Amino acid sequence: MLDELIMPNDAKMEIRPPVKVLEWVCDGPDEAGRGFLRLLDQTRLPNETVFIDCRDTMMVWDAIKRLVVRGAPAIGVAAGYGMVVAAQYIPDGDFLTGVEAAAEYLESSRPTAVNLSWAARRVLERARRAGAGKTPVAEIRRAMLNEARAIDAEDQAMCMSIGLHAAGLIQKCTGVLTHCNAGALATAGIGTATAGMYVAHARGHKFRVYCNETRPLLQGSRLTAWELAKAGIDAWVICDNMAAQVMREGRIQMVITGADRIAANGDAANKIGTYGVAILAARHKIPFYVAAPYSTFDLNLPDGSGIPIEERGSEEITHGFGRRTAPEGIKTYSPAFDVTPAELITAIITDRGIIQPVTTANVRKVVAAK
Ligand code: MRU
Repeated sequence: MLDELIMPNDAKMEIRPPVKVLEWVCDGPDEAGRGFLRLLDQTRLPNETVFIDCRDTMMVWDAIKRLVVRGAPAIGVAAGYGMVVAAQYIPDGDFLTGVEAAAEYLESSRPTAVNLSWAARRVLERARRAGAGKTPVAEIRRAMLNEARAIDAEDQAMCMSIGLHAAGLIQKCTGVLTHCNAGALATAGIGTATAGMYVAHARGHKFRVYCNETRPLLQGSRLTAWELAKAGIDAWVICDNMAAQVMREGRIQMVITGADRIAANGDAANKIGTYGVAILAARHKIPFYVAAPYSTFDLNLPDGSGIPIEERGSEEITHGFGRRTAPEGIKTYSPAFDVTPAELITAIITDRGIIQPVTTANVRKVVAAK
């Protein structure tokens, strides 16, 4: 299916993410023994481009928790490198037990994006395999770094593959709506929901992207609008409560979002508000697409009811714009994600192909296809 969608010039197409979200930096010749994870601090965008160097496991945990690095695939890649950071401090005698504890610790930072545990477990498994004999710890650390790098490279390739699958759909539209940030900032590559936009733009297609601002933390306006505008894509910010009107005015021909965890039947968790957008799209007969790599699927969950939904602190609601915007002492409830039922999703665009219609059988067929 992918081949049909690749156009003659696509093979030469090189689309660079507008900024490097994360990278492994070496302090010396022993790459795995002396290195750290450098993260773009996304809490400071769009005003400042600053980086944070995570030199211990607690810093990695805190960066994920505070959304310095965020977006399911980017959290996964960060967790992969986070495991290598952790490995530098684990004593040789108890090495594998320490690596296991590090995976559990990193996994506790945020509950919804399954890419986090997927990546941490993958590096843990690599450590176990490497450490099965009497392998020196330095060598196990190197194997762990290689695995983290493989996750990073794979994520970049998956974004491009999603982009090639999605671009044809974008090219049929003049107006696209997205929610939150499932862009380059949320991955190691060109994003998931945005990947098709970057490819369509590189092919010369002209279109407008409506970015839902995404309360309470404004990932849509702070991040998506920032990265798309930087790439020369025509990005417009709307407040979340404007989407229905903009749809009714006929300005939007498709909606595309990312996902943090997709159950076996295609129910998809994504940033709070996505479910509402899917309902609006159905009401206006606008196709609603989800874009995600295979690493975002949790086939152990039969449907979305088992997806853990992160709750965030009340300050994100009461002090959203740097000052108090709700009465002192007021109670709040702040689920950070919601689950869009499969029946509202026109198709899920993955790196392995397009799932349509979204059914348990089709999810299995596409996601387990490798
Ligand atoms: O709380 P965040 O900013 O990590 O939430 C991010 C999202 O919900 C994204 O849409 C999702 O992770 C997909 S990222 C490609």
